[in-house]
Amino acid sequence: MCGIVGYVGTRGSVEVLLGGLKRLEYRGYDSAGVAVVGDDGALATRKRAGKLGMLTDDLAAVPIADGQTGIGHTRWATHGGPTDGNAHPHLGDGGRLALIHNGIIENFFELKTELLERGHAFTSETDTEVAALLVGDAYRESGDLTTAMLATVQRLEGAFTLVAVHADQPHVVVGARRNSPLVVGLGDGENFLGSDVAAFVEYTHRAMEIGQDQVVTIRPDRVEVVDFGGAPVTPSTFEVDWDASAAEKGGWSSFMAKEISEEPEAVAKTILGRVHDGLVDLPELAALGDDVLTGLDRVLIIACGTAYYAGLVGKYAIEQWARVPVDVELAHEFRYREPVLSPRTLVVSISQSGETMDTLMAVKYAREQGARTLSICNTQGATIPRESDAVVYTHAGPEVAVASTKAFVAQITAIYLLGLQLGQVRGALEPERARGLVAELQAVPEKLAAVLNSGERIREMAKWMADTQSVLFLGRHVGYPVALEGALKLKELAYIHAEGFAAGELKHGPIALIEPGQVVFVIVPSPRDPSSLHAKVVSNIQEIRARGARVIAIAEAGDVAVLPHADEVIRIPLASPFFEPLLAVVPLHIFGMELAAAKGLDVDQPRNLAKSVTVE
Ligand code: F6R
Repeated sequence: MCGIVGYVGTRGSVEVLLGGLKRLEYRGYDSAGVAVVGDDGALATRKRAGKLGMLTDDLAAVPIADGQTGIGHTRWATHGGPTDGNAHPHLGDGGRLALIHNGIIENFFELKTELLERGHAFTSETDTEVAALLVGDAYRESGDLTTAMLATVQRLEGAFTLVAVHADQPHVVVGARRNSPLVVGLGDGENFLGSDVAAFVEYTHRAMEIGQDQVVTIRPDRVEVVDFGGAPVTPSTFEVDWDASAAEKGGWSSFMAKEISEEPEAVAKTILGRVHDGLVDLPELAALGDDVLTGLDRVLIIACGTAYYAGLVGKYAIEQWARVPVDVELAHEFRYREPVLSPRTLVVSISQSGETMDTLMAVKYAREQGARTLSICNTQGATIPRESDAVVYTHAGPEVAVASTKAFVAQITAIYLLGLQLGQVRGALEPERARGLVAELQAVPEKLAAVLNSGERIREMAKWMADTQSVLFLGRHVGYPVALEGALKLKELAYIHAEGFAAGELKHGPIALIEPGQVVFVIVPSPRDPSSLHAKVVSNIQEIRARGARVIAIAEAGDVAVLPHADEVIRIPLASPFFEPLLAVVPLHIFGMELAAAKGLDVDQPRNLAKSVTVE
């Protein structure tokens, strides 16, 4: 939440900052602002409520004096509404210092009282202004921005990334981080700060991780990092493995349309290089220690939102293939109930951004309790992988649309790879069966490409449903998390009441919701599955149809048994039951997007949301 960019070098900052903010806008889009320091020691700021376009237009109409040092911010409001005054940057030291912030300063009330007593006046309702005034006061004492930042972070509680510039120190930008993201982009004669690498990938692919409780000072020719105690640290660097073009729309109507079209590639790239001799080989797991996989007695998956649903799919697969108990828990519920963990518990976190605060805190807690931790993550250099014993990256590429789509299928793929490897090393999966499953997983991307072809028909359906007030989703077994995901997409994209249910649960209450005309999507298990789930779900369809429901079935090609009972059937290619979620979810992603578009809504930036939820 909130996007941060900092620049120092030889270019005009305004263009660099606005370009970075454009690529970070998915992190928050209720207001934006920049501050620029000129060589002459003048500090110019401009900030506007609304999406970044408001600020960009404003700067185009009335430009500010440009300079080669600057900071920029795009906000997701926590303290104080989305107004010009609450937008960042905030000022300190009599307007000579500008500061931007991501996170929440928990002791802001005490600090604000203290600052008021000292005679400061506040111009906003934000917690951030407290930090700006504190850094400003500390600067007056030391005359050095890094020293002032170090003095200030000692006083702050909560989660924060702070980035500041001072008019007296052109060519210097100072950042600090605790539990919020910050990375450095390393250029030639220029350096960058960003909430993530998207902020600067247009200019450099070399990046440096800033660790927990560290302060970084960037100048055009050097980067210095110290811990909060002032001791120098040597951070690790990494190469960004995608281009700026990957985070552009590239002719698509929306980032989401582009990202859904990339779902086959996201699965393929996540498998790539991880299969040898027909079996899964995840060398990343070696970091857990040799006997962890064979000795573990429980897997606990923690995640939020869509990533949590990927975890639910993983539970079915890992238990089946590796014969080890798996629990899946919402990360924000996990650490508040004193869970029982041991060194034989493998805690697997799933996070696209790798920055979700709830998940990060749960991972830290699990480590403190002695569990082994594995991160499934889509973002290089993010905090959660760094705080985990091992990481398996999904290779979905940058996901810009706020609602997750391609990351979801990549997460499911990664958790399948984990389940297969666990099954292999624990001897629960015969090599031949494992090879068969791996081959089927490798065939999924091609099948996904075929599912994308149903897009036009789903668009038509979405058009006639534009006024629908409520949609229900039913699934069973691995189809149940898919139902939950379909409902979540509809809520967040189209602002429609939507619920996902396990089909077996229907008669225990939710069937009371069915009235004539109620639209219900049903994810129908394969009739080839030896369990009797297909017949049971078809019975469920009959029960709701008898009460007037309008049923849209997602069923595999050749399933004729479902035809007489459904109003519409969306076909997916044949796959083994465990791989059906990957195929069945695509029509639901398309449906959510198309219904939102039919209602004239912003598909990429739904109201009230932000990608990367870095506050609890
Ligand atoms: C829904 C969505 C969210 C995220 C959730 C976790 O479309 O995108 O529910 O899945 O906020 O985010 P990550 O995966 O970044 O931890």
